[in-house]
Amino acid sequence: MPRYSEETIAQVREANDIVDVIGQHIKLTKKGANYFGLCPFHGEKTPSFSVSPQKQIYYCFGCGAGGNVINFLMEYENMSFTEALRSLADRAGIALPEAGDSGEQFGMSALKRKLYDINKDAAYFYYDRLKSREGAQGLEYFRDKRRLSDRTITHFGLGYAGKQRSELYEFLKGKGYDDESIKTSGLVIFDEQRISDRFWNRVMFPIMDQNSRVVGFGGRVMGDGQPKYLNSPETPIFDKSSVLYGLNFARKSRKPQLLLCEGYMDVIALHQTGFTNAVASLGTAFNEKHARLLRRYTEEVILTQDSDEAGIKAKLRAFPILRDAGLNVRVLDMKGHKDPDEFIKEEGAEAYEALIRGAKNAFMYETGVIRDRYDLSDPAMKTRFYEELADKLCMFTESLERDNYIQAVSHEYMINYEELKKLVEYRFLKSGVRQKERIRDEKQREETEKRAVRMEAPHEGRSENASLKAQRLLIAWGCSDHEVLRSVRTYLEPSDFNEGIMRELYEELLRESDEGEASASRLMELYPDDEEKRMQAGLIINSDSGYKSLQDMKRQELEKALTTAVQSIRACILDRETEACGDDILKLQELFRKKKELEKLHVSVGKT
Ligand code: CTP
Ligand code: MN
Repeated sequence: MPRYSEETIAQVREANDIVDVIGQHIKLTKKGANYFGLCPFHGEKTPSFSVSPQKQIYYCFGCGAGGNVINFLMEYENMSFTEALRSLADRAGIALPEAGDSGEQFGMSALKRKLYDINKDAAYFYYDRLKSREGAQGLEYFRDKRRLSDRTITHFGLGYAGKQRSELYEFLKGKGYDDESIKTSGLVIFDEQRISDRFWNRVMFPIMDQNSRVVGFGGRVMGDGQPKYLNSPETPIFDKSSVLYGLNFARKSRKPQLLLCEGYMDVIALHQTGFTNAVASLGTAFNEKHARLLRRYTEEVILTQDSDEAGIKAKLRAFPILRDAGLNVRVLDMKGHKDPDEFIKEEGAEAYEALIRGAKNAFMYETGVIRDRYDLSDPAMKTRFYEELADKLCMFTESLERDNYIQAVSHEYMINYEELKKLVEYRFLKSGVRQKERIRDEKQREETEKRAVRMEAPHEGRSENASLKAQRLLIAWGCSDHEVLRSVRTYLEPSDFNEGIMRELYEELLRESDEGEASASRLMELYPDDEEKRMQAGLIINSDSGYKSLQDMKRQELEKALTTAVQSIRACILDRETEACGDDILKLQELFRKKKELEKLHVSVGKT
């Protein structure tokens, strides 16, 4: 059976939003930051099964079932880990590597795989056209009109669709693709009279998902023709509401926020200027899926949509969606410039950086939009404006937070603080009943989240934790004392350790001790090129997990500690097997027997 790297597993997990996956099986309703439904793992009439889009986990208050998206499928569909992983990879169109071969793929439906290939090949085709003689007009457009560097053009894989009717079609046929798949890709239009490429005489923007796979295209006219942009239609691999342009790069930008703008050109111009954290929702209205996608990679979003009427509407619409997803929201004021692309061309990168620093809190931005609706020179209007502000301020149920905003608003609009406060508090009390309910919901949500955090690992969180602690301890001790390793290795194989760094360290320890000397410093050299792993390894090797140091221990004590450690690791493995074996009674009995036997185990030190 193939073993997958942590990286692959993480990739599959990230590509499958837990709310989407569980939502396909159970009706979920949004309440606060989480979703609730009837628990599929025990009978119930009121929903106590919660799904957290932020943490990407589920948890049931009723029966304690919980875990991540992979665990859900394992439990719900009664799948093994590998089956669940394959099924999710398939769902997301990710090709899993087969063990020990050079990239042969399985798991994804043949059609999706083909569609990814077609889009990738098409991207290369358009890119080549751009660099060919016929592409000169496109290249000139990007270079001169849009001031893109060649590096930027290559980075985003920009391209050119020429003037022939069916160049791409012929190219794809030449590659061996069948008509049916080509048609499904949406890149070629088949009608009764003839077959023609969808994109024709346009510059091309390949659209990539967060894993850098081409899922579709946008094509722009090089002048003022209509429509300005033409896009790929929705296909089995292209769902507009769950793609953010530029996210494949932005997620790796290591900046404290992501910048949300409107179009292809904004993203590209921003990245070219060093703002590699910019993304855009493409032509479609910003929605919950987008928000959840963003939330996976950041805690704060800065909105930098166009400054026209439509842009303001888009921002106001996005606020509650982003807030509900648990994101901090700020708004950038482009001071009359149409969009980020224009702003940067006219004012430069430093000015934009200053805008980011000065980005307004979303609430304050909203109050500004409200203010613009009133004629403040009219006293009656002014009063109405204050009342609307006061109502708006009531959304902060925490009195301290409310007060902070009252202060900020009174300062911004030069309203007497005491008066505004009175107005707000009066309204807040009046809506007290509603508030109380809200507060209760809030508390319930916090409680959910607290429990969810405690329960990082599925179900047997406690035995998983104990096992991890024991593994850590054995590795830490194993590299400072050979006796420890010699005593323990008869009970534990590398495969008993958690996949990844734990197992790798243990394997290395055994290998080194076979050759003579196992030492902490040698283990530390295991990852010369991977800083993160090196740090992790260091933490493990240097940990003492709260136990006494090895030298201070009497032999008896040491034997007891080692015995407990081995038992913890073995018990956890048995727990996992128990969980995985469903209702196979014979197997359960056998596991139970093994667990009993485990209690009798004793590790002795110093005997040969
Ligand atoms: N869009 C679209 N179809 C259109 C117009 C716009 O799909 N007919 C989408 C595109 O993704 C575009 C985004 O909406 O990038 C924002 O539109 P707009 O602000 O008009 O485009 P810009 O990116 O600013 O394009 P340009 O600077 O090239 O005019
Ligand atoms: Mn623009």
